[in-house]
Amino acid sequence: MDRNHVISAKDLSRADIETVLDRATEIKRDPPCRERHVDDLLALCFFEPSTRTHMSFETAIKRLGGDALDMGPVEASSATKGESLADTVRVVEGYADALVLRHPSEGAAMMASEFVDVPLINAGDGAGQHPTQTLLDLYTMREAAGGLTDLTVGIMGDLKYGRTVHSLAYALTKFDARQHFVSPESLSLPRSVRYDLHESGARLKEHTDLDAVLAELDVLYVTRIQRERFPDENEYRQVAGEYRIDAATLEQARDDCVVMHPLPRVDEIAPDVDATEHANYFAQAHNGVPVRMALLDLLLDGGER
Ligand code: NCD
Repeated sequence: MDRNHVISAKDLSRADIETVLDRATEIKRDPPCRERHVDDLLALCFFEPSTRTHMSFETAIKRLGGDALDMGPVEASSATKGESLADTVRVVEGYADALVLRHPSEGAAMMASEFVDVPLINAGDGAGQHPTQTLLDLYTMREAAGGLTDLTVGIMGDLKYGRTVHSLAYALTKFDARQHFVSPESLSLPRSVRYDLHESGARLKEHTDLDAVLAELDVLYVTRIQRERFPDENEYRQVAGEYRIDAATLEQARDDCVVMHPLPRVDEIAPDVDATEHANYFAQAHNGVPVRMALLDLLLDGGER
């Protein structure tokens, strides 16, 4: 893998993705020697809340033998003094060997990457992209659904604002998956994403009702309604709680249908699903560590492996 920044799933080839997933499999089986990354420092710059992404990146660099450098909460950073994002990342790149950035503005990671030479990893830019979530999603699908070829995947919930959805859809297209998008009309895929998917030959269908496709699915990927991105709270209330599954819903699914969710969940997957064979979302979250270890291992090596 010879690329520097990781900004959008659109830029990851099928070979890039397979390289990271294969390395993650090796790492899970046989954790790498910590000596190789002992001097590596990873800067974590989170301008939006995060639990999994932040903690799993921190775990990943520490398990590789390196260390993390956390910008801390936005309120305690120089952003409150009016510093631009470009200046912040230019300063931070002088402290660290790679940078993880989460920001509420779509396009922020792309913009910031133009100002730094160390690898910059997009950990979520507004409603844009979240490519490392996609890597762990695909890793989980490969493990739980037995491979990435010939998959039928249902993606349900907030397809408009959900950045995990946009990244996943681009990546699944590279594996020629059949994709069924299920949402209320007001939260369907953004026009730009739909256009990109069609341009790259995606096999996709859009639905307002899960029943229409549930029985066909190898994977059902459920997402949270992204309340914080709604310009109007009333609009959120109109769709909140509409797309929700429970154990009874899954009686219509295939026995081996894998249920995933990037988490956090609010109420879109009832707790009674947790005890079923379908539930894979906690294993999915745990896979963030080997997958991010693999990505960092490859990026920090500068493609020398
Ligand atoms: C997601 C995100 O931040 O986009 N969370 C995550 O990284 N696992 C999904 C979400 O917040 O709904």
